[in-house]
Amino acid sequence: MTNTPNTPTDNQPATMQAIVQRAYGSADQLALEFVDRPAIASDEVLIEVHAAGLDRGVWHLMTGTPYLIRLAGFGLTKPKRPIQGLDVAGRVVAVGSDVTRFSPGDNVFGIASGSFAEYAAAKQDKLAPKPSTATFEQAAISTISGITALQALTDIGKLQAGQHVLVIGASGGVGTFTVQLAKSLGAEVTGVASTSKLDLIRSLGADHVVDYTTDDATDGSQQYDLIIDTGGLTPVRRLRRALTSRGTLVIVGGENGGRWTGGIGRQLRAMLLSPFVKQRLTTFISKEARSSIEGLAEFIQSGDVVPALGQSFALENTADAIRAMEAGTTRGKSVIVVGTDRDDSDS
Ligand SMILES: NC(=O)c1ccc[n+]([C@@H]2O[C@H](COP(=O)([O-])OP(=O)(O)OC[C@H]3O[C@@H](n4cnc5c(N)ncnc54)[C@H](OP(=O)(O)O)[C@@H]3O)[C@@H](O)[C@H]2O)c1
Repeated sequence: MTNTPNTPTDNQPATMQAIVQRAYGSADQLALEFVDRPAIASDEVLIEVHAAGLDRGVWHLMTGTPYLIRLAGFGLTKPKRPIQGLDVAGRVVAVGSDVTRFSPGDNVFGIASGSFAEYAAAKQDKLAPKPSTATFEQAAISTISGITALQALTDIGKLQAGQHVLVIGASGGVGTFTVQLAKSLGAEVTGVASTSKLDLIRSLGADHVVDYTTDDATDGSQQYDLIIDTGGLTPVRRLRRALTSRGTLVIVGGENGGRWTGGIGRQLRAMLLSPFVKQRLTTFISKEARSSIEGLAEFIQSGDVVPALGQSFALENTADAIRAMEAGTTRGKSVIVVGTDRDDSDS
C-alpha cells in the first residue's frame, strides 16, 4: 500500500488542528494541537471534516478501558493512534490512486479513525455519499450507532414485520437508531430510558415507553419477540423473563461492567446458555461494512430515520462533550463541529 506524501498538492495546508491524546485517562488528557495533516494510502480519501460524532467507543479508547481493548491492538500502555474520533461527515479533498467511488468535492459520511481533526483519512469502503436529507452534523453521528442498530435488528435479530421489540437504552446512540429502524421495518416498539428522555423516544416513534428508574421492563408482565439491549447490564435471567418462548435476545453492550472486562461475562453467559434453551441468546460486534453504511444511508435519505442530534460542541470543547456523555446528560448523540468556515452546501 503506497502512501501519498503529506504535501499540500491539493491546495490544503500541510498541518491541521486536532484533538490529541498521548496517554490513556480522563477527558483532561485531550488537547487541541497543530499536527501534520494525515497522508492517505492508495485506497483512502482525505476528508475535510465538517463534523465528527461522539460515541461510547471513543470513551473506551480514551480511557483504555475495559483493559481487554488494549490487548485487542489499540495500544497496551498508551493509545496507538493519538488523534481521537471515529464517526465523520465532510467533503473529499483528495483521493488515493486506487479510489474509484469518490472524487474531490463529494460530500461523504462514515468512519475515519482520527475524525476529531480538521482533516481525516478514511478507507473508501468505510464511507458512503452523505444523504442530501441530512445535515453534516446529523450524518456525522450516524454511522457507528446506526450500523450497529441495523445489524442488531436485521443480520443478528432477524426482525420480522409485526414483531414486538424491546429496546433497552432507547435514548442513547444505538438506541435512538434502533427505535426508528425497528419502526421502519414494521415492528411494534417499546423503548426503555430514564424519566427525562421518555419524550425523546416517543418523538422517535416508540409505541410504548418504560422508565427504568421507576419500572422494570423485564418483570415478566410483558413478553417480546426481540430484545435489543444497549444499556444497563440487566442479568440474562431477567432478560429471558421478558422474551417469548422462542424470542431472540441481542446484547449490544452496557456500561459500568468493570475495568477489566467491561461486564462481558453477561454476553458469554448468554452465548453459553443459548444452545440449551428454545430462546436465542446472542451478542455481536458490529462490522464496519460498506453494505451497512449504504443501507443506513437509504433509511436516512427516505426520512424514515432522522439522526437524534443532541448537543453540538466546537472542536476545542471536545472534552466537554465527553464529560456530558459521562454524566448521562446527552440525548441521542453529541456532535463535534469542526471549523466554522466550511462550505456546508451539497455539491
Ligand atoms: N456490540 C457492538 O458492536 C457495539 C457497538 C456500539 C456500541 N456498543 C456498546 O453498546 C452500549 C450502548 O452504546 P451507546 O453509544 O448507545 O451508549 P449511550 O449513548 O450512552 O446510551 C446508553 C443508553 O443506556 C441507557 N441506560 C443507562 N443505564 C440504564 C439502566 N440501568 N437501565 C436501562 N437503560 C439504561 C441510557 O438511558 P438514559 O440516558 O435515559 O439514562 C441510554 O439510553 C455501550 O456499552 C457501547 O459500548 C456496542
